[in-house]
This record gives sequence, structure tokens and C-alpha cells, in this order.
Amino acid sequence: MAFTVVQLSDTHLLSDPSETWKGQVNPEVNLTTALRQAMKLQPDLVLLTGDLAHETDARPYQRIASLLNNLEVESAFIAGNHDLPSSISALCGPRIITDTVFRRGHWQFIMLDSTIEGEVAGRLSEDDQAAVSACLEGCQMPTLVATHHPIHIVGSSWLDGYGMQNGQAVCELLTGHACVKLAISGHVHQATSVRLDGLVSLSCPSTCYQFAPKCDTPSYQYNTRPGYRVLTLHSNGNFETNVVRFDVESR
Ligand SMILES: [Fe+2]
Repeated sequence: MAFTVVQLSDTHLLSDPSETWKGQVNPEVNLTTALRQAMKLQPDLVLLTGDLAHETDARPYQRIASLLNNLEVESAFIAGNHDLPSSISALCGPRIITDTVFRRGHWQFIMLDSTIEGEVAGRLSEDDQAAVSACLEGCQMPTLVATHHPIHIVGSSWLDGYGMQNGQAVCELLTGHACVKLAISGHVHQATSVRLDGLVSLSCPSTCYQFAPKCDTPSYQYNTRPGYRVLTLHSNGNFETNVVRFDVESR
């Protein structure tokens, strides 16, 4: 039986839930809309791939914890470069998985922190690479690896300049283990997909605002609908995925 994962990314909540992003988007309304609509798909797991809040205080994380703990399914998260380390690390509750590695639905999930404190770009530490290597050694279970920063190049020079600094090494680490079928990420606020030997690396739209693809400088796309990704994982390691764009509902 397939296991369905909903990936939400770059929710960028602000301290005040009524506040808007550059007068264009209310991150809180977008997140609650995305969750409400995604739950109709009856997923088995929700993954949040970083930038849960935007350089703020603890309040958005308390609201996210409340939202996630009220879902009918489990969720897990990783930090992004805009997250407050002390607050996101306190995110917990009965429905929130905080393990770095866990197994559900015949798949293994590895949730990795690719952030570097005080920097926009990311990196997977040597210790984390060693831990991943040990975890994957001899592993037969289909595996999904989640990072905030994509392990692949997305083709926008300004975003790739803020990407995973050691992405090539991480790619080699993951593609060196046949059990790794998927690498998922956020950070780039757009959907991309790249095949890297035996695995597929995917980035996700933001539930908040989008970046235009293939740009040399930052370009916001307020006319592009926000979105999330759905992953249907099969026990034999096969999977399907699609991106869902949504219209924002009023509260
Ligand atoms: Fe972001």
C-alpha cells in the first residue's frame, strides 16, 4: 500500500499572524489554507522543509506546533536559514517527529540540518555526512533524504550562490547508496526536479511567495500561486510526485 507524504516548505511565518509579506502575501493564511487543502488528500505524513518562520521570535513556532499537533497525521520538520535555531529546536508535541532518522510506511526518512548559523547558504557538516554514511551502509530500505538547501543546482545563479556549498560531495554520498531514492528540499521557492544517477532530487514551491526560475537576480513572482508537493511512496522504492498549486482562502 502506498504511503503519501505532503511536503510544505518555506512557510515564512511572521511574528504577527495578521502581518503580510511586502504587503502581498499573508504567510499565516497561506499555510493554514495549504494544510486544510492538503489534509483532504489524506496523507500519512507532513514534512516541512525549512524557513518555517522569517527571522522572528518564538511566537510563529508556537502557532506551528499547535497547527501540527492538531493534524490527524504525524509531521516532521527541518530548519532553514531564516529560522530561529533556539525556537525551532523547541518545536515538539505528540504529533511531531523530532528524530533525525525514522521509518514509516516501508521507507526510511533522514531529516538533515543544512543551515550554517548566520549565513544564507548551506552545508552538510562532516559529522552529519559521516552519520548519514553509517546510516545508509548496508541499508536495503528505500530512503528519502530531506534538506533545506537543494543538493542540486537549480539554474538561477543568485540562488545557486546561496545553495549547498558542498552539494557535490553530498550528491556523491547519497548516490553511492542505492537505497536512497529521493532527496527533497526547499529554499529556492520553486519546483525543480533533477535525476542524479539512481536518485531524484526535488525542490518545492513555497506556501508563501515564489521566486522566478532561471534568474541572475532575485525576482519575486506574486502572480504565481503558492504550492506544495505530494509524494506517493511505494514499498518497492518507486514513487510518484506532483506539485499542487492552491488558491488562498480567506480565514
Ligand atoms: Fe525561504
